[in-house]
Amino acid sequence: MARKIVAGNWKMNLNRDEAFALVSEITGMLKDEESRNLKVILFPSFVHLGAVVQLCLGDARIHVGAQNCNDHVAGAYTGEISASMIQSYGANHVLIGHSERRLYFKESGDLLSHKINMALQQSLTPVFCIGESLEERNSSIHFNRIEQQLSTEIFHLSGDDFKKCIIAYEPVWAIGTGLTASPEQAQEMHAFIRAIIRKKYSIEVAEETSILYGGSCNDQNAAQIFSLPDVDGGLIGGASLKSRSFVNIIKSLP
Ligand code: 13P
Repeated sequence: MARKIVAGNWKMNLNRDEAFALVSEITGMLKDEESRNLKVILFPSFVHLGAVVQLCLGDARIHVGAQNCNDHVAGAYTGEISASMIQSYGANHVLIGHSERRLYFKESGDLLSHKINMALQQSLTPVFCIGESLEERNSSIHFNRIEQQLSTEIFHLSGDDFKKCIIAYEPVWAIGTGLTASPEQAQEMHAFIRAIIRKKYSIEVAEETSILYGGSCNDQNAAQIFSLPDVDGGLIGGASLKSRSFVNIIKSLP
């Protein structure tokens, strides 16, 4: 059975005081949910990473991750952050392949494969993001696109390594647009992703892989999306920046 997870991707938002306030509000509100075995992951920007890890130490249900990592171990790559640096601050997850990185920073599938390897080498859990553009959906090639991303970017992993990863399905047309995939669209794609994983690896790997939905998920629609059989939680952008809405989304996990 796949682990249910809610993750918050803060993107390039929140200064120091705002970030600290948000974390303390979230940890405070989650105290009311102490009995629940939740898994929450916060993805602050790099500069807040160490501090957010410290602020979350009191609640083992809250994990912290980076929004990106470099594909090299170390070296002359000015401005870049390595997986081992992230790990050394106590963060244990990393987003790889977010559509904003693919689009604005021209990250290729080949580069993403290397980043996944680097993250795993440093014992970070990759949250690997895949998703089709609106054009691809309108041309009815969305399933091909998702299959291609999986097969060329992450299926080089052994079953044992793949089991350490989390998949996030984020249709690009739903990110930050207020458009959410309908329950039918989300379930159909998540079931497709799980079927592809089953075909490549095994039933066991497919059933244990958490597949998160991302794209305009908020506290109004989360409960419905999270109730879908192949949706194991969400990767939340805008609605993760407000403690009340983010905690309501967490509470929507079945
Ligand atoms: P929004 O929730 O703002 O649409 O962003 C989703 C996302 O990109 C999470 O990684």
